[in-house]
Amino acid sequence: CATPAGTGPKLGFTAVPPSRADTVVVPPGYTVQVIAPWGDPVGIAGAMPAWRPDASNSAADQAVQLGMHHDGLHFYPLGSGADGSRRGLLVMNHEYTDDGLLHPGGLADWSAEKVRKAQAAHGVSVIEVAQGPDGWQLVRPSRHARRFTASSPFAVGGPAAGHPLMRTAADPAGRTVLGTLNNCAAGMTPWGTYLSGEENWAGYFNGPAQPDAHQARWGIRPTDFYRWHQHDERFDTTRHPNEPNRFGWVVEIDPMDPASTPVKRTALGRAAHEGAWVATTRDGRAVVYSGEDARFEYIYKFVSRDRIAPGGAKANATLLDHGTLYVARFDADGTGRWLPLVHGQGPLTAANGLADQGEVVIKARQASDLLGATKMDRPEWLAIDPRTREVFCTLTNNSSRGAAGRPGPDAANPRANNVMGQVIRWVDEGDFDGTTLRWNHLVLAGDPTQARAEAQGTVRGDFFACPDGLAFDQRGVLWIQTDMSSSVMHQGEMARFGNNQMLACDTASGEIRRFLTGPVGCEITGCAFTPDGRTMFINVQHPGESPSERSKADEPTRFSTWPEGPGAARPRSATVAIRKADGGLIGT
Ligand code: FEO
Ligand code: CA
Ligand code: CA
Ligand code: CA
Repeated sequence: CATPAGTGPKLGFTAVPPSRADTVVVPPGYTVQVIAPWGDPVGIAGAMPAWRPDASNSAADQAVQLGMHHDGLHFYPLGSGADGSRRGLLVMNHEYTDDGLLHPGGLADWSAEKVRKAQAAHGVSVIEVAQGPDGWQLVRPSRHARRFTASSPFAVGGPAAGHPLMRTAADPAGRTVLGTLNNCAAGMTPWGTYLSGEENWAGYFNGPAQPDAHQARWGIRPTDFYRWHQHDERFDTTRHPNEPNRFGWVVEIDPMDPASTPVKRTALGRAAHEGAWVATTRDGRAVVYSGEDARFEYIYKFVSRDRIAPGGAKANATLLDHGTLYVARFDADGTGRWLPLVHGQGPLTAANGLADQGEVVIKARQASDLLGATKMDRPEWLAIDPRTREVFCTLTNNSSRGAAGRPGPDAANPRANNVMGQVIRWVDEGDFDGTTLRWNHLVLAGDPTQARAEAQGTVRGDFFACPDGLAFDQRGVLWIQTDMSSSVMHQGEMARFGNNQMLACDTASGEIRRFLTGPVGCEITGCAFTPDGRTMFINVQHPGESPSERSKADEPTRFSTWPEGPGAARPRSATVAIRKADGGLIGT
């Protein structure tokens, strides 16, 4: 990206204090506009049912409305020059559902229709937005408007396509999967597509009482969390044991072609994928970094065999199906290695339970265990600085670090009972495809007033905890979003942090300044900019989330009425467009 002229100082705004208010707070001189809340129609011609505040929309309605629990998003300009910053597509993930809010009566009278509605509230939305005299609005209908749900067909690309472990009764070829699940973070490719990570997919599958070793390594166990298996046998692994192997992939969507079929890119490895982010080597190949948001799991990168071709999505339709997958090892001396996940190399052999490259990518955790990769503190988002070639990754927290029977602190994950999290950074030596790296920490998050040394952190500037979302803007400011769990928020060591928030970091100086605080019970996530750097889009996920188990209440207490405000029937995840009142660059 070109740096817009007249950038001024990196962090030019007045910091906001921590807040427990049920609203979005931004610095003086900035405006907040809510668009695209859960349940509004995405704008498919002839199918635009209005949202009903009593949650009485049907499953069929929900399948053409914005899903629940907005997460990662990106902006795709429509038009060139200034027009491209005033009109475009927003593509966003809908991570999961709160069934207490989604249905009249919540989980009472659980039914096939409620399961279908929950499935329809998952996935990805494509909406068209335009900026007019009244700010940003959805363009409805739009030929681009689209929903992908837990029932939409996805093709499979890469070494697991057609693999015996991918075959099911409904799909004996193992090449067409229905649905995408728990889509968390989002990346945009240089060829114009959208990458979405399938994160905590294991919880949708009811496992057997005695899981086998593969199921156990991926957390497949008996569960009633989403209750889909009660009315949809596809989610009962005792009947369809291979169905879970078809989730945990990075999916690629071409938002510009409304007729395109999205693809699960298995060459990037299977994981509880937070998301995927692309860098380009000097000779034009794609390097896709990804992490797995789970305690003691791994950071990966994929290096494409071929160069990115001119011609956009169609010219690169199989680029991410051929290349080399690596997993990271961070050594105590500040160096590290990318260990190849290549069948037949080292311990990745049939004798160790990995018959071929398809099985290596399906069992990427087991393969990474064999290679001795570094077990991280829940890798969430990554961000790549094209100027310095540094790669950053949020490690959100890990309260099990150092617990009995679990791995203790190491150099990259240095704190026991790590409730605050950290941001690690590295440079791959030579180029983004380098197999060695040098790393350090950008920051250990925390609160310097805490009594426990491990909770104090190294923050220069405004204190924060649990970094999750991470993105660079066009000026090179690193934006950090937080996701303190509602089960710990405002308590104990989290007492001073207030609601979840967003901060800006000058990575050269290390200064961190709080830019935004969110409403009660929310997570702040998703970060995208118009090409002119003058509108920032973020998502407010799960305002009013119950501090107790989130999906279990029949009619949960409403802890928030955001965004409609007092008297609203139920809180709604929504997108927020942030601008400066004077139309200036965000962050200046
Ligand atoms: Fe869906 Fe790791 O946050
Ligand atoms: Ca996240
Ligand atoms: Ca998180
Ligand atoms: Ca969340």
